[in-house]
Amino acid sequence: MDKLIIEGSRKLKGSVRISGAKNACLPILAATLLADEKCVIKNSPNSLRDIMTMLKLLKALGMKSVVEGDTIIIEPVGERKSFAPYKLVSTMRASVCVLGPLVGKLKQANVSFPGGCIIGPRPIDLHFKGISRLGVDLKIKKGYIVARAKELHGADIYLGGHFGSSVLATANTMMAAVLAKGKTVIESAACEPEVKDLADFLVKMGAKIKGHGSPRIEIEGVKRLGGAEHSVIPDRIEAGTYIIASAITDGDIIIKNANLEHLTAVTDKLTEAGVSITRAADGIRVRRKKALSPVDATMLPYPGFPTDMQAQMMSLMSVTKGISVITEKIYPGRFMHVSELNRMGAQIHLEGPSAIVKGIKRLSGAPVMASDLRASAALVLAGLAADDKTEISRVYHLDRGYERIEEKLRKLGARIWREKEI
Ligand code: EPU
Repeated sequence: MDKLIIEGSRKLKGSVRISGAKNACLPILAATLLADEKCVIKNSPNSLRDIMTMLKLLKALGMKSVVEGDTIIIEPVGERKSFAPYKLVSTMRASVCVLGPLVGKLKQANVSFPGGCIIGPRPIDLHFKGISRLGVDLKIKKGYIVARAKELHGADIYLGGHFGSSVLATANTMMAAVLAKGKTVIESAACEPEVKDLADFLVKMGAKIKGHGSPRIEIEGVKRLGGAEHSVIPDRIEAGTYIIASAITDGDIIIKNANLEHLTAVTDKLTEAGVSITRAADGIRVRRKKALSPVDATMLPYPGFPTDMQAQMMSLMSVTKGISVITEKIYPGRFMHVSELNRMGAQIHLEGPSAIVKGIKRLSGAPVMASDLRASAALVLAGLAADDKTEISRVYHLDRGYERIEEKLRKLGARIWREKEI
């Protein structure tokens, strides 16, 4: 296992290029199971472990892929299979998004039940609700979701849950509905840009979808889907993380290949806190113009403040003088980073789904442990701002979602490197 070492307290300067969005690319790759022909996926974050896991899973399901730079060429070869094994699904929850396309295309699927993870219980009742309303019989047998259908038919489906809409349940239902007979209407659909990007890809394949990006998606089933070429949207969470990297180090950086429209809630909050975020000729310029002030932030479904930026925001607030309250309404227990930030001197305490952060002047470097992807990003940010040396163990979490993070940060002037853990 590797660990990251950071010598902090250096202002970041220069420019960084944002990769394609992991959370858009994964369902898009799953959607290629619906295609009868070759698909070409561009701007894919191909060095991420999750993308490689998805390609392995698709191979097991009868797809052949070739990776060239940031492009994936993928097509069906030989017999299609419908069995998604535990070994692959257990390493990545997003594997569950092969369920919709498998059942839509083959009328059957055996997909390992994904289970919970460190950020919370993560049920899949909404995936079940959406797909079963299309006429699919779904059961759980021996740890597998067993799906069977004679024919899929369109339906009116309300997909709102206890915590609002669900990104992957919307994706799964939409992918199952595109080849169903008749019209499907999904109400309370997730509006995240990643869901819209998936729908845009499906439309290029020949699907008839309207309203994606809004809470009401209408789908008219078609008989078949062909191949398509698509460029994945930029990763808004990676962009948000680098925006905070500039703010937390009092740096001045240009972020290239990011889409500010997908980041309104984040940039609005950071502007309120005193971060200057402006459009420059070659990207987005981020710097501080004055001392930062504390802000309260609540994590909500899109277009609200994204839960995937909660931990990073907490790192920033932990070095912003004053009190801020960060409330998590998507995953009320997603606070594994709090104790690690406190090891670095942060003063954060939890009150139910809220973290009360008392900003201090400086964090001090410490050995800390990464628990999940975004918690790891928060610790990297904290390490960049802290005095002395921070050692982050279990960095494999970071490799699931941030392409070449040390290389990108080093280019911005950070002192960060990887070592083998003994
Ligand atoms: N939920 C249910 N029932 C369901 C599905 C979800 O109650 O059937 C609940 C969840 O427990 C949660 C809320 O609904 O409280 C929202 O979860 P959602 O289903 O939207 O999450 P997801 O689709 O499984 C994706 C991202 C996550 C991101 C969330 C929320 C991918 C591969 N994953 O997960 O990304 O946090 O949406 O935006 O797209 C990450 O990248 O670090 C990550 C965890």
